[in-house]
Amino acid sequence: MASPDLLFRGARVIDPRAGRDEVADVHVRDGIVVDVGSGLDGASAEIVEGDGLVLTPGLVDIHTHLREPGFEQKETIETGTRAAAAGGYTAVAPMANTDPVADDASVIAEVRAAAARAGLADVFPVGAITKGLEGEVLAEIGEMAAAGVRVFSDDGRCVPTARTLRNALTYARAFDDVVIAEHCEDASLSRGQQMHEGISSSSLGLAGQPGAAEDAIVYRDIELARLTGGRLHICHVSSARSVELVRRAKADGLRISAEVTPHHLVFIDEDLRTYDTNKKVNPPLRTEADRDALREGLADGTIDAIATDHAPHAVEEKEAEFDRAPPGTIGLETALAVALTDLVAPGLVSLPRALESLSSAPALILGARDHGGPIEVGRPANLVLFDPEERWTAEPPFVSRSRNSAFIGRELRGRVRSTVLHGELTIAEGKATR
Ligand code: NCD
Ligand code: ZN
Repeated sequence: MASPDLLFRGARVIDPRAGRDEVADVHVRDGIVVDVGSGLDGASAEIVEGDGLVLTPGLVDIHTHLREPGFEQKETIETGTRAAAAGGYTAVAPMANTDPVADDASVIAEVRAAAARAGLADVFPVGAITKGLEGEVLAEIGEMAAAGVRVFSDDGRCVPTARTLRNALTYARAFDDVVIAEHCEDASLSRGQQMHEGISSSSLGLAGQPGAAEDAIVYRDIELARLTGGRLHICHVSSARSVELVRRAKADGLRISAEVTPHHLVFIDEDLRTYDTNKKVNPPLRTEADRDALREGLADGTIDAIATDHAPHAVEEKEAEFDRAPPGTIGLETALAVALTDLVAPGLVSLPRALESLSSAPALILGARDHGGPIEVGRPANLVLFDPEERWTAEPPFVSRSRNSAFIGRELRGRVRSTVLHGELTIAEGKATR
């Protein structure tokens, strides 16, 4: 077990919530921050040198697939939270598309118990909106909300009818802070699709789906949020039109938030020319103009958070022909480095904003009060220390049980040195401590 008395010395402390960005020392003891300042003398504390490194709130992922129960050959809560810790995360929200589906309090309790046994990250299970993700009967939202579930989603599938989503949003309003997170996809436009519909899909000979498959549902759901006053979160925004719709909904004062994935911020449809099944994702990679709008939306805060949509799949599944491989890429171990390499280094997004979108902003949506900062005396010590310059190449094996990463072979910049979960190191010197 790691030392409960740690002094992080001389790191650049970036605390998006408090607006702090300065070199400082941070002393952590018994799970909390006990001092922040310069020239701290930690007495008997173990010293962690932070020179040239960045110390910031532990990352928070509001969209992860941990696959347990039901798909343990792809990932388990233990292996998934291990991957999360390696990537600098201290909190993750696993989606409900497990088997059984997390549509009542018993599955939620099972997920929480496995997470507690692993002890590698705080886990905030997402509850299903509809029973069995079948889009018809509402799941036990009240029961799960009473058990502390804050986010509900049928992710993997879109809630098919406006009526059902309206009921969910209305019902969610009864529970103060409950968020309905929607996977926006009009199945009648996307059925049978393999990628984004456009010049690339024609030249590759793959069936495509237009951006309108997403945009139409984003529009529908925004109108339902307006009608009901319920809190709506848009999962993995992939198109320029969707970004614009979210921007306008926010300007109208609606209670809406949105996330974007690292892969949609980097890749486009043309990158599928090698038929790399690891880049087959849902929603699909779209055009360069879409990607640029996502970057801009993230930079200006229209899109609140970067969420990994970590979607592990078995090697055999991803080795199938392109049209039979399941969609998804893993992302927990690379998200921070991808943001640093592809957004911060070229000057598209500031470092504090990137870190806000990876920690404070998702923590707020998730209601994860112990996470996302501020880094202040008395606060729970959930932190990540990383080297913003270290270069490495994403390649298997990964800490995750799966290896379906869209980023394989990519040169990245920025690497996690320490992850601190409630004052204890889950990662130290870049290596797992337990
Ligand atoms: C996700 C999965 O595999 O569960 N796949 C994906 O491509 N994103 C489902 C989802 O997030 O929609
Ligand atoms: Zn989804």
